[in-house]
Amino acid sequence: MFKHLLGLRDVGREEILTVLDTARGMKEVLGRRIKKVPTLRGRIVVLLFFEPSTRTRVSFELAAKALSADTVSITAAASSVAKGESLRDTVRTLTAMGADMLVIRHPASGAAEAAARATTAAVINAGDGTHEHPTQALLDLFTMREAKGRLEGLTVTIVGDIRHSRVARSNVWALRAVGAEVRLAGPATLLPPEAAALGIPCYTTLEQALEGADVVMALRLQLERMRANYLPSLREYTRLYCITRERLRLAKPDVLLMHPGPVNRGVELAPDLVENAPSVIEEQVTNGVAVRMALLYLMLGGE
Ligand code: CP
Repeated sequence: MFKHLLGLRDVGREEILTVLDTARGMKEVLGRRIKKVPTLRGRIVVLLFFEPSTRTRVSFELAAKALSADTVSITAAASSVAKGESLRDTVRTLTAMGADMLVIRHPASGAAEAAARATTAAVINAGDGTHEHPTQALLDLFTMREAKGRLEGLTVTIVGDIRHSRVARSNVWALRAVGAEVRLAGPATLLPPEAAALGIPCYTTLEQALEGADVVMALRLQLERMRANYLPSLREYTRLYCITRERLRLAKPDVLLMHPGPVNRGVELAPDLVENAPSVIEEQVTNGVAVRMALLYLMLGGE
């Protein structure tokens, strides 16, 4: 198993399937009345979040606690980062206190890799800029496999702000590694320029991209990462790209609807779809704890 999880670009099929298989066992633990095993007793997991997060931060904390690890959660505003301490010095300080694992979210692409160079602890990237969000993609694959019984041969349509999406980037690498077909859909300005070179089909007409899809994954419009005017207007985006029940009929009858959250209701998804079938958004959240338990267990050599 890898020492650090910085992205999925170089992670192979077998390693991905090992994580997903292990997560299945972890989900069984989470279904027990007492959701705790002693596997990582005495190990220290530090959650270092330089950007807001609900799902990723809380699920890592729950995952570490379910494995009996000790956790410390740090935000930039409440640490010496607010006094100007660098990422490298922050990471070295936490390492000197005995951290075994650093889970890091940062607005800069490459921050997790920089942290890994500064520490002897294992590092998990919990989202770095527009680069990758590997644990989100792994929980997405777990959710797809649980619902469909397979990953190979699935057609997965990812819709929205692909250009700024670390979730899309990680999903593309992972889905291709396990033999799924990926399609990207959105306004031309929000599609990644490198997609053509990677041979990934891109669509500016949503209806074409939905045709026969097994899974539709809508992405959040990341207005905070848009430095230029990528959209004529939010209303225009919604008119052309919002997933509605009517548009979903173009996909397979047993289509799964996914979204990494948080959702801009009525922009990426029609409000009635968020909590109702075929949406599996809440299952994704639940599965996030099991997948993060699997990663902590595998990477820290749990017993
Ligand atoms: N999907 C995701 O990363 O959500 P959070 O920002 O709430 O962690």
